[in-house]
Amino acid sequence: CGIVGYIGHREAYPIVLKGLQRLEYRGYDSAGIALYDDKELKVSKTKGKVADLKAKMESELDNTSGTLGIGHTRWATHGVPNDVNSHPHLSNSGDLVIIHNGIIENYESLKKELTKRGYKFESDTDTEVLVNLIEDVIVKEGVKLGKAVQIALNQTVGAYAIAVFDKKKPNEIVVARLGSPLAIGVGKDEYFIASDASPFIEFTNNAIYLEDGEMAVVRRSKGVKVRKIHDDSLVDPYVQELQLNLEQIEKNNFDHFMLKEIYEQPNAIKDTYRGRLHAEEGIIRMAGIDDNLERFLNARRIVIVACGTSWHAGLVAEYIFEDLARIPVEVEYASEFRYRNPIINSDDVVIAISQSGETADTMAAIKLAKEKGAFVFGVCNVVGSSISRETNAGAYTHAGPEIGVASTKAFTTQITVLTLIALKLAKAKGSMSNTDFHMHLQELETIPQKIELALEANDHIKEVAFKYKDARNCLYLGRGFNFPVALEGALKLKEISYIHAEGYPAAEMKHGPIALIDEEMPVVVIATRKGHYEKVVSNIQEIKSRQGKIIGIVTEGDTSVRELADHVIEVPDTIESLTPLITTIPLQLLSYHIAVMLGKNVDQPRNLAKSVTVE
Ligand code: G6P
Repeated sequence: CGIVGYIGHREAYPIVLKGLQRLEYRGYDSAGIALYDDKELKVSKTKGKVADLKAKMESELDNTSGTLGIGHTRWATHGVPNDVNSHPHLSNSGDLVIIHNGIIENYESLKKELTKRGYKFESDTDTEVLVNLIEDVIVKEGVKLGKAVQIALNQTVGAYAIAVFDKKKPNEIVVARLGSPLAIGVGKDEYFIASDASPFIEFTNNAIYLEDGEMAVVRRSKGVKVRKIHDDSLVDPYVQELQLNLEQIEKNNFDHFMLKEIYEQPNAIKDTYRGRLHAEEGIIRMAGIDDNLERFLNARRIVIVACGTSWHAGLVAEYIFEDLARIPVEVEYASEFRYRNPIINSDDVVIAISQSGETADTMAAIKLAKEKGAFVFGVCNVVGSSISRETNAGAYTHAGPEIGVASTKAFTTQITVLTLIALKLAKAKGSMSNTDFHMHLQELETIPQKIELALEANDHIKEVAFKYKDARNCLYLGRGFNFPVALEGALKLKEISYIHAEGYPAAEMKHGPIALIDEEMPVVVIATRKGHYEKVVSNIQEIKSRQGKIIGIVTEGDTSVRELADHVIEVPDTIESLTPLITTIPLQLLSYHIAVMLGKNVDQPRNLAKSVTVE
């Protein structure tokens, strides 16, 4: 689910190939490239990784020259991942070539029509239908490629980011977006196309981000013309200066992006609260909240919508908001919320949490909430993302690019932003004492330092990982603020090591999962001193008496759990509501090391995508 393109004066192949590698983090199962060199169109595609594609291209083709090229990594939706279903796809004449992210929902009816008109299809994909639909428009209506793309897209229902060119008109690429991101890098007499800016950051700092429903004709040395797909009106493109630098998207000295991102958390959290948290003065400044304070204070309740790890951050926020700000909170999977006719009114505040800001279900939930009159606030990491634009107001997490598919620093920075919001509202409502408020602010400021200390347990965690790497199941338990952390810990392990894992509220264990416990079963228990400590210790005893293997995440200096557990991993002490920011760290490291020891692809786990732009 990444697209890359180049048109200009340089060789396209190395740029497109490198670009695809940069987009690998988005998750995919096949890849392909099309190049044009003024004589012939060369297309190569394969199931597997970009490295497989490179090997295939270099053995299959006489040369890889050409100054026009497009490339794609595919995450299968229609049709299994195989060579034929991979992109690029050609039209029947062999002139048009397309790459596409997203889904054309009405492709079957379009396909039927085209089949009647004599078109043949090699693959099972919706994309091959689209490229032939475009060709059909050119043939029937005698229009140019740009116009044909527009007419064809107006007949589709679905979501897309596409790039298409005609080998007979090799001076232009036509691109369009609806629901899937697309950026155009603007160089001197050269243009880059990509799902995000990372493929072209070393060539240019200037980019145009297409809005939903926009298309562009990108001409070699002649510029970019942007228009609205549905009414043909011209749009004056806004060329944005990018803040991204190469260092942020390279691994530097780390073996994996995930590990780099785990270690980035102290700084990422500082970046999140920089300029917002003023502990000395006892002030939190957040424009998105300040400007809408009444909406929040008058809210009947807050509904949080999100998916995956962001949903877990929402669950942590539920505990924090209710405890500190005394506002009722409900947390929902965006995918459930959008389809269950939820009761939402104008006095509800909806908070949408999304690292990428592109998740389709979360986006749809936001649109629904807005239709019902709610005020929607976004918590996103990617600046300028679709969700950040769709929401009424918001706060960025400022974690920097997260490349590892398994989310780490996005999670802790989301919790940081949500904590700041809760504290700010608590102060405005007077639901916390002044002393308590100040203590929270000061404590939040020490969190980066405490995460540094938690990271020092890395070698010990590696030893623990080695002991349990062959486990087939694993249980994660926590209570209160740390129940969602248990869910997140289990998700991390599942995602990257493929070991089945479940997170549970510690006390709920006796209502089911306890049946699974035997001497084979590792149980990770978050048992910090703050937060129902004695209760958790009794839960640990229940596991011990059934021979389960206990890995306790404990506060430094703990003795009671140490006596019972097989292993303890110590973390620094903090106030209860902030413990998730610290207890998460050893769980991230534990799953990381297990996955590495099992030889799994940590940064790009099978079947997963970084940003899921399909529902
Ligand atoms: C995918 C990713 C997860 C992420 C989820 C929500 O499933 O693999 O890591 O938590 O999407 O993504 P978002 O960008 O909305 O936070």
